[in-house]
Amino acid sequence: MEHLTIRLETENDYRAVEELTREAFWNVYKPGADEHYFVHTMRTHPDFIPELAFVLELDGEIVGNIMYTRAWLEDERGERKEILSFGPLCVAPKHQRKRLGKVLIEHSFEAARAMGYDVNINFGNPGNYVSRGFVSCKKKNVSFVVDGNFPTALLVCELVPDALDGKKWMYIPSTAADCCEDAAAVEAFDATFQKKEKAWAPSQEEFYIYSHSSVIR
Ligand SMILES: CC(C)(COP(=O)(O)OP(=O)(O)OC[C@H]1O[C@@H](n2cnc3c(N)ncnc32)[C@H](O)[C@@H]1OP(=O)(O)O)[C@@H](O)C(=O)NCCC(=O)NCCS
Repeated sequence: MEHLTIRLETENDYRAVEELTREAFWNVYKPGADEHYFVHTMRTHPDFIPELAFVLELDGEIVGNIMYTRAWLEDERGERKEILSFGPLCVAPKHQRKRLGKVLIEHSFEAARAMGYDVNINFGNPGNYVSRGFVSCKKKNVSFVVDGNFPTALLVCELVPDALDGKKWMYIPSTAADCCEDAAAVEAFDATFQKKEKAWAPSQEEFYIYSHSSVIR
């Protein structure tokens, strides 16, 4: 039986977490990956929440992590509510599908509740999240624009039951991930790791479908 520990990330873990993130995301959502660059830059972004950056160790080896940024919901009167959005979340490929992702989500949600947060929203593959209490944004009236579309990949999890009260909400994500739009910076950072082959994988098409479609009925 392996010994499992979850603890906050420290500076000494930074590179190990970036290696793990690169490994877990490589070729999953696009040929190659940029999430390790996102992890690298987000730690200095004002929306980053270090109190919710956890690593999961099995026998002393980091095999999973989760990180959060603040995000916001705005109601029709323009009033804003601060919420959470996690990502990247990852588990080392050899340890995936053993409930470690679930453990990381549950552990960090507990810490988030203790900090007073009551809603988490993610843009991701529904298959990873629906069994963790996430529902379509349409069911909670959350859109990127008031009265706009309800993207299939926009998923809402109330950390406290009925935290969203039926109002119409507009989701305002952090700008932390914008760094990944700088392809040259992503490539330069990636070049500091061991070379890996970029390739097509069916999961890329699956995510394209989720991220380019909406729930309409
Ligand atoms: C997504 C990820 C973090 C999930 O962690 P994990 O430890 O592998 O997942 P878990 O074992 O906790 O299972 C999570 C859910 O995935 C789904 N799942 C589990 N095994 C599955 C399988 N063989 N096939 C399809 N879906 C499966 C289920 O919904 C499962 O929940 P349930 O078993 O309670 O119904 C991990 O697979 C990963 O790092 N993937 C690559 C990076 C990524 O996509 N991160 C998420 C985007 S930020």
